[in-house]
Amino acid sequence: MEIQEVYQLIDDDREAVDALIQRQLHSNIVLINQIGHYIINSGGKRLRPMLHLLVARACGYQGDQHLTLAAVVEFIHTATLLHDDVVDASELRRGQQSANAVWGNEASVLVGDFLYSRAFQMMVNIGQMRVMEILADATNTIAEGEVLQLLNCHDADTTEERYLDVIRYKTAKLFEAAAQLGAVLANRSPEEEAAMVRYGIHLGTAFQLIDDVLDYSADSAEIGKNIGDDLAEGKPTLPLIYAMRTGTAEQAAAVREAIENGGRERIKEIMTAIESTGAIAYTSRSAEVEAQKALEALAILPDSPYKEALAVLAKFAVERSY
Ligand code: IPE
Ligand code: IPE
Ligand code: MG
Ligand code: MG
Repeated sequence: MEIQEVYQLIDDDREAVDALIQRQLHSNIVLINQIGHYIINSGGKRLRPMLHLLVARACGYQGDQHLTLAAVVEFIHTATLLHDDVVDASELRRGQQSANAVWGNEASVLVGDFLYSRAFQMMVNIGQMRVMEILADATNTIAEGEVLQLLNCHDADTTEERYLDVIRYKTAKLFEAAAQLGAVLANRSPEEEAAMVRYGIHLGTAFQLIDDVLDYSADSAEIGKNIGDDLAEGKPTLPLIYAMRTGTAEQAAAVREAIENGGRERIKEIMTAIESTGAIAYTSRSAEVEAQKALEALAILPDSPYKEALAVLAKFAVERSY
């Protein structure tokens, strides 16, 4: 199965989720409608809603609340992107100017708040305390992750461990919640729910490791984001941490300087250090290990096309170029 077939497998569900998203974007405030539609309709991969729908289906869920939760998860994700692009001063998102580049930081932050709170209105409608608990915890943890990352920024002594904490919080947590909620809706056993939690954490960690690789190696047009944003921000991601740890003294000093001062001026030199130390290969291998753990967590599920699709997602997280 290829990633396109994964999308096709749940075409009907995805269409219903999209219709729901469009409906729920509505506000009487024109600027909210404008920015909301601008970012939501700009072609994100919709991976987190897809993950939720697939787990719900793989767990045999028969109702329609998974559609609402898929939309909720995408709203939370989109809110984090609006805020993240302000914090990271990123000007390109999903192949177009970021919302902050078009409307400014203030509007982006506030519409991000609108999306968060709309997501909470929608989840309240589900009427299940357990669902609210998982999503409230996830949203809180993402915020902690972004703040933790802010603290690591420009800190060249950030360890691989501290970096991994950040990505588990800021990214893997929402993957975890999306997967767990599929099992929760379907009333699966605690063991199955725990397995879906593990699947989500490892998939999300692999996904962010590769995101951090792509920031140094992707094609900007293909990924729809500017390359080198992490370096410009002085973000100590794994490719840099590894290059510093294993490079020559000169390379380590150059990377250290780049993290401490940010900017794109020395990007060529940093790229060379990353390449010659094998930092990209090391980070990709770490992502493969995570994806393998995600795969292993699927073993508890009965065989189905949905389970197979979840395995394909784990592969995609590592092999993707966008
Ligand atoms: C971007 O996520 C933010 C990260 C956690 C790396 P995606 O790559 O899933 O973004 P879209 O939704 O497809 O644009
Ligand atoms: C995104 O991290 C994580 C969240 C949005 C919470 P990044 O800053 O690495 O994501 P991109 O690269 O801007 O998409
Ligand atoms: Mg960013
Ligand atoms: Mg990134």
